[in-house]
Amino acid sequence: MSKRDILTPRRPGPSGAGLATRHRAGLLAVLGAAVILAQPGAAAADSMDPVALGNPCAGCHGTDGRSKGAMPTINGKSPRFIAKALKDFRDGKKPSTVMKRIAKGYTDAQIDALSKIYGK
Ligand code: HEC
Repeated sequence: MSKRDILTPRRPGPSGAGLATRHRAGLLAVLGAAVILAQPGAAAADSMDPVALGNPCAGCHGTDGRSKGAMPTINGKSPRFIAKALKDFRDGKKPSTVMKRIAKGYTDAQIDALSKIYGK
C-alpha cells in the first residue's frame, strides 16, 4: 500500500457512482420490504374479515383469484385443496418460492376462511 492510498481513502463523494448504486440498492430493499409488508402479515394478521384476508392474495393471484399472469389461478379450486396447499406451504411440506413466507402470516382459522373466499 502506498502512502497516497492512506492519505486519500477511496470514499465515493456525494455524487459518486458508488453512492448512487448503494442508494438504488437501498431503495430496492425498501420496496421489497414494502411488498412483503403489504402482504398478509401487516393488516390482516389478526383479522377474520374476508376482504382484509383475501385482498393481499389478489396482487399475485388476480382479482377473485383469477390470475392473468404466471401465478397459478386459485379461484374455483376446492377449499380443501387451497387450505391444504396453504398449510403445507406454511409447514414447509410443499415447495414454494414465496408462498411459504406468505402462508406463515395466517392462522389455521384464517386459512380455512381464505379457502372459502377463493375456493368452490
Ligand atoms: C407475492 C405473490 C403472491 C401472493 C401475495 C400470494 N401468492 Fe399464492 N402463490 C404464488 C406463487 C408464486 C405460487 C406458486 C408456489 C410458489 O412458488 O410459492 C402460489 C401458489 C398458491 C397456491 C397453490 C396453487 C396451486 O395450484 O398449486 C395457493 C392455494 C395460493 N397460492 C393461495 C394464496 C392465497 C390464499 C394468498 C393470500 C393469502 C396468496 N396465495 C398470496 C404467489 C403469491
